[in-house]
Amino acid sequence: MSIIQVHGLRSLEGEIKIQGSKNAVLPMMAAAVLHKGTTVIHNVPRIQDVFCMLGILKKIGCSCSLDGHRLTIDGSSVSESEIPEEYIKSMRASIILSGPLLGRTGTVVTSFPGGCSIGERPIDLHLMTFRALGAGVKEKEDKLIVSAKKLKGADIYFPFPSVGATENALMAAVYAEGVTVIHGAAKEPEIKSLCCFLNNMGARIHGAGTSRLAVTGIKQLYDSEFTVAGDRIVAGTYLAAVMAAQGSIAMKGVLPEDLRSALRVSEKMGAEIREYENRLEVSMMGRPDGFDVVTEPYPGFPTDLQSQLMSVMAVSKGTSRISENIFEGRFKTAEELRRLGADIKIKDKKAVIHGQHILRGNSVTATDLRGGAALVVAGLASEGMTEIYECHHIERGYEDICRDLTSLGAAIRGME
Ligand code: EPZ
Repeated sequence: MSIIQVHGLRSLEGEIKIQGSKNAVLPMMAAAVLHKGTTVIHNVPRIQDVFCMLGILKKIGCSCSLDGHRLTIDGSSVSESEIPEEYIKSMRASIILSGPLLGRTGTVVTSFPGGCSIGERPIDLHLMTFRALGAGVKEKEDKLIVSAKKLKGADIYFPFPSVGATENALMAAVYAEGVTVIHGAAKEPEIKSLCCFLNNMGARIHGAGTSRLAVTGIKQLYDSEFTVAGDRIVAGTYLAAVMAAQGSIAMKGVLPEDLRSALRVSEKMGAEIREYENRLEVSMMGRPDGFDVVTEPYPGFPTDLQSQLMSVMAVSKGTSRISENIFEGRFKTAEELRRLGADIKIKDKKAVIHGQHILRGNSVTATDLRGGAALVVAGLASEGMTEIYECHHIERGYEDICRDLTSLGAAIRGME
């Protein structure tokens, strides 16, 4: 699907099930490389980034089978220590294979992932982690070679709670001699679920959910099964959709506490939220009220919902402001929203949005995963038809955004 067509100004009604979490399952798939046996993961989303990670796992010697949403990985014959360059370039998240490969084989050969449309995306904190655990890091013909005879537990201090670097630190420390303490660790729900996943395999990690994670090195992991939680960013995207289009929807398979900050913001903007154990109900009658938001590491407002919220603010009452503190390139979608009539001014890390009653359909182009989803949200609040190009970005993280929104009453379809 490379084009999505949306006919806007239809309110949303109905109930959907939220897919498994992309940002929780990718590190779990990487962690399976640590184990010379079988790992089964349930509720795996069928998205491009998962298929890409499967391709890498097979390349390094794992045998994998994805049957519906059930993934089986046999890591008994991992033979390669190199993450193929073509994968690193197409999916930056493949960098989280370096920790488990280093822990499993003592070596990892990779390349700098490079930047993407949302930011420069350095990996200095990942490399700092590996050095702290006793590995050497060398550059040779634009390749990175990280190796260690034996990883030794250490104290690692993150100046910034990097999600990926925390994940790599956890996975590299599983077999390291002694105790590793990660100070200033990221606290996103995906980190907590990775700690639970690794402990379920037989690792010894304490402090899940806090910024201080202690990993006691062990000798062996065991066959295990685990179920991935619902994707909080996909749920947050549909929260934005009903706020922009109005109506009343229910979302099954999502944990409200994973979305706490986004739910608080949506209530301040006039949404009515009803929370249950594994389910959310959201109603929006009338235009949202403008509001000011700052993106921060968890539990702050997530940068991955910033573009989608900007689309809501574009049709909210009054003036709203967004400060983006995580990724310097994440305001790119504003240019496309302006093509729909949005009034958005950007200066450095701040966006000021003057809300319009409705937007006007037009052709727009997705530049990144969440920016593309934001354009779909904006199309729902636009008069006439909106055509969104380069939708392969959206397929990286959404199983079928057209299927989900159609089942909520939207007039939306994907085309090749
Ligand atoms: C993860 O990316 C997510 N990706 C991102 O989601 C998410 O936006 C991000 O965390 C923040 O929550 C996955 O989980 C696969 P970071 P990651 O390391 O790990 C700087 C999506 O849409 N930094 O926490 O790359 C970096 O430049 C994606 O699903 C360094 O300076 O994020 C950025 O400013 C997009 N040095 C900040 O930290 C480093 O070594 C956050 O990066 C690493 C990061």
